[in-house]
Amino acid sequence: MQKPVTREEGGNLDQTLRPQTWEQYIGQTKIKENLRILLTAARERGHAAEHILLYGPPGLGKTTLAHLISKTLGTNMRTTSGPAIERVGDLAAILTNLSPGDVLFIDEIHRLSKSIEEVLYPAMESGVLDIIIGKGPSARTVQLDLPPFTLVAATTRISMLSAPLRSRFSGGTFRLEFYDESEIAAILTHSAELLGVAADATIMRSVASRCRATPRTANYLLKRCRDMAQLDGGVLTNDIVLKTFNLLEIDNLGLGRPDRAVLEAIIHKFNGGPVGLNTIAAATGEEQSTIEDVIEPYLIRLGLLERTPRGRITTAEAVAHIENHLATLS
Ligand SMILES: Nc1ncnc2c1ncn2[C@@H]1O[C@H](COP(=O)(O)OP(=O)(O)OP(=O)(O)O)[C@@H](O)[C@H]1O
Ligand SMILES: [Mg+2]
Repeated sequence: MQKPVTREEGGNLDQTLRPQTWEQYIGQTKIKENLRILLTAARERGHAAEHILLYGPPGLGKTTLAHLISKTLGTNMRTTSGPAIERVGDLAAILTNLSPGDVLFIDEIHRLSKSIEEVLYPAMESGVLDIIIGKGPSARTVQLDLPPFTLVAATTRISMLSAPLRSRFSGGTFRLEFYDESEIAAILTHSAELLGVAADATIMRSVASRCRATPRTANYLLKRCRDMAQLDGGVLTNDIVLKTFNLLEIDNLGLGRPDRAVLEAIIHKFNGGPVGLNTIAAATGEEQSTIEDVIEPYLIRLGLLERTPRGRITTAEAVAHIENHLATLS
């Protein structure tokens, strides 16, 4: 008989794996130290902490940091995102409903519209909301005092933020870095414990070397390896790990099909570049934003791709890697 379907580990798996304390939040030591001082000092003074901007590629821990910030301040966190705030009224409703000291987390802040940004400026700077009542010559502005709050914003695209918006994050702007392999190994060890997976050092290294230096991907790969082990003898071995990567088409550098497609397009169709982002998008069928946010940062980090003023170019290492990969297929 089929087993009843239950939620795994008493809730959402990703929720289970998300660090709940600063000790569990591995790496990013500079950011943690800066935040610790900023948040503790504000808390001791009894003031709302100043506004904080977090940026960096997906899956490096921005949302997790926002949760830890609000936990440390001992206040509630209200979460929204750039695309979710469509009208000025939406933002006004959120801001006026905050309790003193609350954290307002705006994810994907680069997707806020210009008119909403302008409402946010005085709210961030002086804690007031300017509301225009009426239209035309009889229109007047009413100013509302807001409860003191801390805006924590996250983005994968700092370059899309206007200068005035950026300058209002008076608590600091922090760039999350890719993780080194020992940090990823520590994250995986903790996740393996939570998932009840027994994995030795070799297995951890295998997963760590292919996760694009990204905690979310490391956890994702570990979960897929666990699934494979379950259907294939019950024990997680290095062979199972390699079989999982093969099935997912993830190569020894951690690149998947879309990453290789970008490299291959530049190498084979455009002679190694330089080639513009929109042309690469058209040639590969990937969205420009996916290439810019997800694919490109890691290829650049590996030294396989370079950004020049005239477009993207692939390096000799990229050519060698793709040739190698194609050789393994034939
Ligand atoms: N420093 C860390 N230590 C341990 N685990 C981490 C760390 N950072 C991230 N993780 C894990 O990776 C997952 C993804 O992190 P998070 O959702 O915070 O990323 P993000 O930067 O907000 O990504 P996105 O840009 O896609 O929203 C978390 O749920 C957590 O399990
Ligand atoms: Mg996030």
